[in-house]
Amino acid sequence: MKYTSEINKRKTFAIISHPDAGKTTLTEKLLLFGGAIQTAGAVKSNKIKKHATSDFMEIERQRGISVATSVMSFAYEEHLINLLDTPGHKDFAEDTYRTLTAVDSVILVVDSVNGVEEQTRRLMEVCRMRDTPVIVFINKLDRDGKNRYDLLEEIEKELNIQLHPMTWPINSGKEFKGVYNLYNKSLVLFTPNTKAADEDVVKISDLNSDLLEEKLGSRDAETLREDVELVDGVYGELNTENYLSAKVAPVFFGSAVNNFGVKEMLDTFVRIAPPPQSRDTSVRVLDVNQDKFSGFVFKIHANLDPKHRDRIAFLRVCSGRFERNKYFHHVRLDKEMRFSNPYTFLARDKDVIEEAYPGDVIGLFDTGNFKIGDTLTEGEDFYFTGIPSFSPEIFKEVINKDPMKTKQLEKGLLQLTDEGVAQLFTQFGGNKKIIGCVGELQFEVIQYRLLQEYGASAQLNSLPFYKACWITSNDPKKLLEFTRFKQANIAEDKDGHLVYLAQSEWFLNTERINNPDIEFHFTSEIHK
Ligand code: G4P
Repeated sequence: MKYTSEINKRKTFAIISHPDAGKTTLTEKLLLFGGAIQTAGAVKSNKIKKHATSDFMEIERQRGISVATSVMSFAYEEHLINLLDTPGHKDFAEDTYRTLTAVDSVILVVDSVNGVEEQTRRLMEVCRMRDTPVIVFINKLDRDGKNRYDLLEEIEKELNIQLHPMTWPINSGKEFKGVYNLYNKSLVLFTPNTKAADEDVVKISDLNSDLLEEKLGSRDAETLREDVELVDGVYGELNTENYLSAKVAPVFFGSAVNNFGVKEMLDTFVRIAPPPQSRDTSVRVLDVNQDKFSGFVFKIHANLDPKHRDRIAFLRVCSGRFERNKYFHHVRLDKEMRFSNPYTFLARDKDVIEEAYPGDVIGLFDTGNFKIGDTLTEGEDFYFTGIPSFSPEIFKEVINKDPMKTKQLEKGLLQLTDEGVAQLFTQFGGNKKIIGCVGELQFEVIQYRLLQEYGASAQLNSLPFYKACWITSNDPKKLLEFTRFKQANIAEDKDGHLVYLAQSEWFLNTERINNPDIEFHFTSEIHK
């Protein structure tokens, strides 16, 4: 329990959203509050512009920016906040899913005009798998959005989570006048293009006071009274326990670009968001307060420049103290390793660090020792669970175009898939290599990198599969029968686990019905 005060200072979280909802803008405002940056516009959007989906320079640019902003650490009041960035582009969704395994909570941005969108839904599914506490920020109130009651209902229904408004908006679009803070009972008035100043925050001890008419006019004052009565009646006070157990998500309304409603959210976030949590491992729940160090790699970032083949492994500290130059145990390789230049990410600068504590993310230079999910400890043998591979959605067969470079191609495929760029499968009973990704863009990255970094030229031919399901059975004979019978659809993942490649939902459902003894899993977690 040596490090409890360091642990309790920290909050490690990610902001997630459908592209364009305002994640980058909100990130920037939070960094401004934390003093990590001085001017607006300092955080570059890590978005790949829509028109540039097959532009390699754009991919490189994206990778360059995203490593610089992968983790942003800043101080706010007495707290140390680690904000983990997630790629906005849906083709990199798996990267986002994995990043979510390294946080203790998330802030979900929803566009008040568009409501719940495709990526919002998927990201929330991942949060739900891990019971990650969520705070919702409903953005762009300065635009004419959906009716707020309808919007809340839509979010609750679509994302299957109970909401709890913490602020309440007064109109939207041109008529947007601000928010009422239901928690500390104050009115925060909105003036477009200016940051809410202290004088814009009006304490309202009694909602019946004439002050409300004075500030909002009689129509909006009356509406706000009715709204607050209704909202208070329905929701009452927030039960923090329900937020921490991911049953209820507190909701804030605002406008990120105007830096409006953001401070209310940040103040609540630091008050209620969980500090670094204990985590499941293969042997026990690992107490975050145990003195011995442990951590896991959730992301690997390679330098695209062939002259600099270094990679950076991102490690989340889960317990104890990480120290520079101290030997730690690499569980998978059963090898003692030390790191002379570990670095931390303070805003956009990389600084070599001496030590790190639970909740912190550190960058370790890697020459090929790490793959996603690897665990470092102070000697004990276990690994962290809950870092699954998710089913890819697009599959291609790898055809070697240059037989002289077979070795390079194999090495390249293994290393790139260790980084988590894609998943590699081998046809059952054969040699055919199949790679699976969540987006087309990743195939281009793979082809490009195989050639640039390994000198291997590969052709990628589309395969008619739509999902990979890991299959298990309590009856080994049945499993064997199934794999023999369905050989054309069976492959092995890199760890030798069996997967069934389904052509369509219909096929998958049919196989499930016809083979009740076989279990189909959508993540690889079952094997951990
Ligand atoms: P993302 O990271 O979630 O993809 O979204 P990002 O912050 O880049 O925001 C997407 C667009 O929405 C940006 O406009 C941004 O300025 C705008 N935006 C963010 N918050 C608000 C808000 O509260 N109100 C309004 N009206 N707009 C908001 P853009 O035109 O795509 O880019 P830019 O040229 O303004 O940077």
